[in-house]
Amino acid sequence: MKYYVAPGRLNIIGEHTDYNGGFVLPVAIDKYVQVGIEKSHDDLVHVKSESFGEFTFDSKNISATDSWKDYVMGIFDVLKKDKGVNFPGLKLEIKSNVPEGAGLSSSAALEVAVITALNGFLNLNLTDEERYNLSQKAENEFVGVQCGIMDQFASVMGRKGHALFLDTVSMKYEYVPLNTGEYTFVVIDSGVKHSLSDGGYNKRREEAQKALEEFGVNSYRELSLSQLFMKRSQVSEISYKRAMHVVTENERVKEAVDILKHSNFENLGRVLNQSHESLAIEYEVSCDEVNFIVDTLKEIDGVTGCRMIGGGFGGSVLAICEKAKVGEISAEVKEKYNKEYGKEARAYVVDSSDGAMKMDNALI
Ligand code: GLA
Repeated sequence: MKYYVAPGRLNIIGEHTDYNGGFVLPVAIDKYVQVGIEKSHDDLVHVKSESFGEFTFDSKNISATDSWKDYVMGIFDVLKKDKGVNFPGLKLEIKSNVPEGAGLSSSAALEVAVITALNGFLNLNLTDEERYNLSQKAENEFVGVQCGIMDQFASVMGRKGHALFLDTVSMKYEYVPLNTGEYTFVVIDSGVKHSLSDGGYNKRREEAQKALEEFGVNSYRELSLSQLFMKRSQVSEISYKRAMHVVTENERVKEAVDILKHSNFENLGRVLNQSHESLAIEYEVSCDEVNFIVDTLKEIDGVTGCRMIGGGFGGSVLAICEKAKVGEISAEVKEKYNKEYGKEARAYVVDSSDGAMKMDNALI
């Protein structure tokens, strides 16, 4: 078998901005989906996933199933339709250590791992740009989630030691060095599973689009904070709140880049706190459990700031923590969370990683 891996991603800031023509600042992380690939003895595609089970499909005749299988088959479908690829019989073995439903983009990592494996194994000569764009297209059109480009982009383009500052309109990007010093990223998973295909995500996307119409502009680039205030009485409350989040979050992304370049890493905490408030109150994509974790973390010594990450409605919290105190911090938040909700939270220290790649041997 040949092995390929694609990383999950952690978005430092810029949440729900990618599909709103905004800025994002993700980091590819050291948690991966791995795809082992080889030819099979028949014409079919045999997929075996360590966590989800097995299935077989005919690549000449693909249809969606409303399950995890669509993330795999969607890639085959898009390659067939857009690139005219005819697939031989294949065996795919999938393993992952990206926590699912935790806001670390396990689904984009799966799509990118599959497309990278097919690209390498079948010599398709896809560019990086094609790999992330086609992966997003598979998710939009085959899986049916209107996600933005951030996750697939980060999983393909990530670079160890760096965050990716991306303008989702021009698709221009910059690698911003991460000098974390005595601090680190810690992700606390609430265990409340979110699924982007549940509908809340697509609904927010529609609301944000409707807000643009109400404000009478074509894009969020044309909407300043002062215009937002001026037109408040002319738009619905929902439109005002959704737009308020997008406009201010874009500013916070730029501020975060500035902090990474010119200040100390731990100062990111303050903008993370502001981002959380905005996501919870204006964009309304948080939930009680996640808010509890944020409020608890804020009171703990060694945490400079935190916020919910990913699509929302559950998932995880990102905290900037002093390295030496990570053990105590995670123990305290887990204990308080368990006492309040009777649920187990999980804590992960995450580091940056390179984007999807071929491996000489299995990694997982
Ligand atoms: C999910 C989507 C991304 C992005 C985030 C929210 O992860 O896949 O495109 O919209 O939610 O920032």
